[in-house]
Amino acid sequence: MYKIAVIAGDGTGPEMVKEGLKVLKAVSDVKGIQFDYKQYDFGSNRYLQTGETLPDSAVSELKQFDAIYLGAIGDPRVAPGILEQGILLKLRFELDLYINLRPVKLYPGVETPLKDKGPKDIDFIVVRENTESLYIGAGGFLKKGTQDEVAMQNMIMTRKGTERCIRYAFDLTRRRNKEKKLTLCGKTNVLTYAWNLWERTFNEVAGEYKDIKTDYAHVDATTMWFVKNPEWFDVIVTDNMFGDIITDLGAMIQGGMGVAAGGNINPQGVSMFEPISGSAPKYAGKNVINPIATIMAGQMMIDFLGEHEAAALIEEAVMDTIKKMKSMSAGKMGMGTDEVGDRVAEYIKKKGK
Ligand code: IPM
Ligand code: MN
Repeated sequence: MYKIAVIAGDGTGPEMVKEGLKVLKAVSDVKGIQFDYKQYDFGSNRYLQTGETLPDSAVSELKQFDAIYLGAIGDPRVAPGILEQGILLKLRFELDLYINLRPVKLYPGVETPLKDKGPKDIDFIVVRENTESLYIGAGGFLKKGTQDEVAMQNMIMTRKGTERCIRYAFDLTRRRNKEKKLTLCGKTNVLTYAWNLWERTFNEVAGEYKDIKTDYAHVDATTMWFVKNPEWFDVIVTDNMFGDIITDLGAMIQGGMGVAAGGNINPQGVSMFEPISGSAPKYAGKNVINPIATIMAGQMMIDFLGEHEAAALIEEAVMDTIKKMKSMSAGKMGMGTDEVGDRVAEYIKKKGK
């Protein structure tokens, strides 16, 4: 029995999570895995009604679960930053979810904007550090509001934070067993303190992983290779900021925000899984949003919980469903949000017996 905290969130979050839970119900039926869900209402409505984003008590409560399943957070009625920092980033920091794992995998039948590239070319994983760098919120203003104003936003890297992320990436590269190649994505030529620490740590840890090939690419060049030669990548490790940016590009080459899922992972604690898209409020309640990313977040979640067979079955079901969808974009799928979930669930029930 797995205890799962569900935060459906804002906008299209609840619709997408509904399909994700439908799919998990199907694997639960055929594989005999039990889930015990508890829903939490963190998000814009609760904030607008109570002024509360994420109470401290919730953080300790969430630590009691086996995993957290998140839809999306964000609402145009709330000023940018409040919900992102108050809920999403707070969870990442307080639960020490120090890895943000973002697979970039193009499934057969999904359209990529990259000409002449297909599923065999686009299949890599980005390991994004998730608790440090520019996201830490260190900085401030001097002489705010004057012509002499100074704003500082500090890129803070720690040896411990860097090393645990790099070690995770090496272990993952070994487990994944594809090309056994790990690329460090940074900016050693300009950010000579922060990225020098990463580079030294990376090279030191590499000494313990002689079976893993290592490579380095500056972040700007990385974006170029994503478009020109995505087949060069197996696993990429990078910091929070660069990881945020390159994984949006990664999502686009794998078919868009409708398919990209991610895991916020604390290998020693509770982890949280989410579609990497936002809440897409303009599509809310219309049954047009693509739930595949959220379904795949659920897939990553159970894989992480150790249910590898059930996870493989969900992926197979998703791949089969994708073939029948006209597009991965909201409103253009040729079927409704609920029908996508139905098809994935039906496949699982048929094949999983
Ligand atoms: C992401 C998002 C978040 C981030 C925002 C919503 C704070 O863009 O998960 O990539 O920047 O990390
Ligand atoms: Mn992002």
